[in-house]
Amino acid sequence: MNWAEHLESLQEFVSIPSVSTDPAHRPDMDKACQWLCSWARQQGLTAEIWPTAGHPSVYVETRPLPDKPVLLIYGHYDVQPAEDVELWTDPPFRPTVREDRLYGRGASDNKGQIWTHCAAIQSLLAEGPLPCQIKILIEGEEEVGSPNLPQLLEERRDRLNADLVLVSDTSTAVKGVPTLHYSLRGIVIFEVHLQTAGRDVHSGVFGGTSPNATHRLAQLIARLHDDQGRVVIPGFYNRVRVADEREKELLERVPFDAQVYQEFIGCSELVGEAGYSTNERRWFRPTLDCNGLGGGFQGEGSKTIVPARAWAKFSARLVADQRPEEVLECCRRWFEPQTWAGRIDFRADHGGPPYLLDPYGPMSGYLDKARAALRQAWQQEPLLVRHGGAIPIVSQFQTILGLSTLLMGFGSPDDAIHSPNEKFELANFRRGLHTSRLFLSSLGNLRV
Ligand code: BES
Ligand code: MN
Repeated sequence: MNWAEHLESLQEFVSIPSVSTDPAHRPDMDKACQWLCSWARQQGLTAEIWPTAGHPSVYVETRPLPDKPVLLIYGHYDVQPAEDVELWTDPPFRPTVREDRLYGRGASDNKGQIWTHCAAIQSLLAEGPLPCQIKILIEGEEEVGSPNLPQLLEERRDRLNADLVLVSDTSTAVKGVPTLHYSLRGIVIFEVHLQTAGRDVHSGVFGGTSPNATHRLAQLIARLHDDQGRVVIPGFYNRVRVADEREKELLERVPFDAQVYQEFIGCSELVGEAGYSTNERRWFRPTLDCNGLGGGFQGEGSKTIVPARAWAKFSARLVADQRPEEVLECCRRWFEPQTWAGRIDFRADHGGPPYLLDPYGPMSGYLDKARAALRQAWQQEPLLVRHGGAIPIVSQFQTILGLSTLLMGFGSPDDAIHSPNEKFELANFRRGLHTSRLFLSSLGNLRV
């Protein structure tokens, strides 16, 4: 297998700044699509660019093989913005190898992980016919909530027909320990804009008498959680499914070191909802976070005003069986009547439902194959746990395509995804490639 060639290709892929939120990068989105298509065609595969109302998706298909399972691999070529660029050791879009890691925006999330499968397919094709049919869907809007992908799934339902979906866009539960995830959290995103007066006024003339929007917003945010770390919004925990005994047993197998975890975050204490362990808080409980806030004077130096406006951005993480629209309405119904604070403008953004696969249900056969492939490639028993992040489209593979998804992450928890100095462990790339080859081959032994 030509390892150097696979790494070189990945570096090329990572060097394309395909940032989906930024309209200035629109040409780079097309460039990434073209790049993927030309790779696929060089392998003799069918490749198409599927336009959407937003960024296009790339679709690659291998030859049909009757009686064998059809695997649909999903990933995304879009990446998070690289700001703050000055915090990066190497430029984010000049991928650099240091200490057996590839540094660059998207190296782990998700270019390195999706490329792991592409490289595996390339290496298998070099040896002969593939063991089963593979369809690859690589979208360009995951980091902005996949707004146009559901429609694409509806339109292309027939082409996307498969037996299962495989997604590698998560990180292992513990560094170096192979992991299968059977659940993802959902997400709800919204903003609250607060206005307390007609305009900003002089803090000497009016201060102490005019309501300060930043103070009021801070008070509102402080009231969101009680002293037990619980979200006070009525209905926020509605429909939360309680972990069963088998899930608790799976959770106990995770070799978790709270000290290491805390040191990685760099915080002086761990916080959260009373009555739950750290991993339960991350994987089994819904949470609500303010992601950013602003208001008043942000410029250099000082400006003595009482600010009239302030805003905050929030995201809630949901678990099975919560519904994004319901949680959003609970949040709206809590914020809007808080008129003591001022005029409240509640603005809903995108969201997505949680995903939960029954590990002992109809997918358990595929799960066993995935587990065996991971075990052999990593020489270690894989973990089977829930995941705290969101990949909103995964639940829609179920509702629109009727397909269950296996989540096999090759990221490492310290990959710094969405942060400066994002990297991909090349050890995970190599083991992932090996895993993918083994898994694809083992699918070929199944008949459907
Ligand atoms: N690859 C991530 C999901 C993920 C999160 C993997 C944490 C490993 C650890 C995915 O690209 C992502 O960031 N999803 C967003 C979804 C949101 C923008 C709708 C998330 O979870 O914040
Ligand atoms: Mn991702």
